[in-house]
Amino acid sequence: MTEHLEQIERQALGELESVQDDEALQRWKVTHLGRSSPLMKTFDGLGGLAKEERPVVGRRANEVKRSLETAFEDRCQALRQRAIQHALAAERLDISLPGRPARRGRLHPTTQTLREMYQILGEMGFQVYLSREVESDELNFQLLNFPPNHPAREMQDSFYVDTGKPRGDNPLLLRTHTSPGQIRAMREFAALNPQDPPPVRIILPGMCFRYEQITSRSEMQFNQLEGLAVGPHITMGDLKGTLSDFAHRMFGQQVRSRFRASHFPFTEPSAEMDIECFVCGGEGCQVCKRSGWLEILGCGMVHPVVLRNGGYDPERYSGFAFGMGPERITMLRHKIEDIRYFWANDPRFLEQF
Ligand code: DAH
Repeated sequence: MTEHLEQIERQALGELESVQDDEALQRWKVTHLGRSSPLMKTFDGLGGLAKEERPVVGRRANEVKRSLETAFEDRCQALRQRAIQHALAAERLDISLPGRPARRGRLHPTTQTLREMYQILGEMGFQVYLSREVESDELNFQLLNFPPNHPAREMQDSFYVDTGKPRGDNPLLLRTHTSPGQIRAMREFAALNPQDPPPVRIILPGMCFRYEQITSRSEMQFNQLEGLAVGPHITMGDLKGTLSDFAHRMFGQQVRSRFRASHFPFTEPSAEMDIECFVCGGEGCQVCKRSGWLEILGCGMVHPVVLRNGGYDPERYSGFAFGMGPERITMLRHKIEDIRYFWANDPRFLEQF
């Protein structure tokens, strides 16, 4: 009988060695330690043995049982360890490798131009004033002295905002220029001290929208940078000095500039400012269309009606204003031939700046 037990043990331990996974391990346990395993059967058969054989076989059977249980636990442990080792090897992480560099983006070319402008005008004492992109017809046109049927309105065809209500005579629209911010800013400043409004020296950057045919020269969405200075003794000389100085700092100290008479409803007199073509130095080339000059902005002395609409008495105050297109200026500087590149979001274009 004890020999039979030896054989059971040898057989079981032998089989255990070839067990490679959990499933086989469980099967082994049922076969060799389960209710109907040969080992358990010997316990059942103890009662039928001779009296003196019983304790000997019983003890031996218990030893075998313990030996199989221990072997089972060891095998369990070994398999678990092996699984961990496998996982560690397969998912090895070399923390000494250099990290993947984060891809750094860069500023949009228009933003770069705008920031240069803020820097220069900021040093001259202009503060950035942010105005809204959705405006009313009143602020975008009427208070800026555009009469209802003024032809300039047609030059700035608008995107109207559908409010679900009849349009009426003061519809909402996407601002066609940054100039309505002049009225908002003056009113805000004037409200600080209505009897004696403080001087104003601000720049108003931001997106403008026009319902326009998109071509290489005009987009329906573009930035403007507006400037406004209002105070007790502001003259056309201040306008010319400020803008000439701006042009020198922006385009180079040697660059000459000139003012041409023009017309805007919100300024009187009005002018356009040209700088000497920095591509050909004034000789005449493709960029300046053989004229030697590049137009960079519109400007003028703030119209008395606009001053009054902003809460400033035109008898006591005067001011100058200007407006320029950062995309246009970026195009001139970098000889970009198509304004549509700015919002096309093509990295091949954006990466160049
Ligand atoms: N608002 C004008 C436009 O969009 C640009 C402009 C011209 C602004 C003259 C000004 C100015 O402030 O004085 O075409």
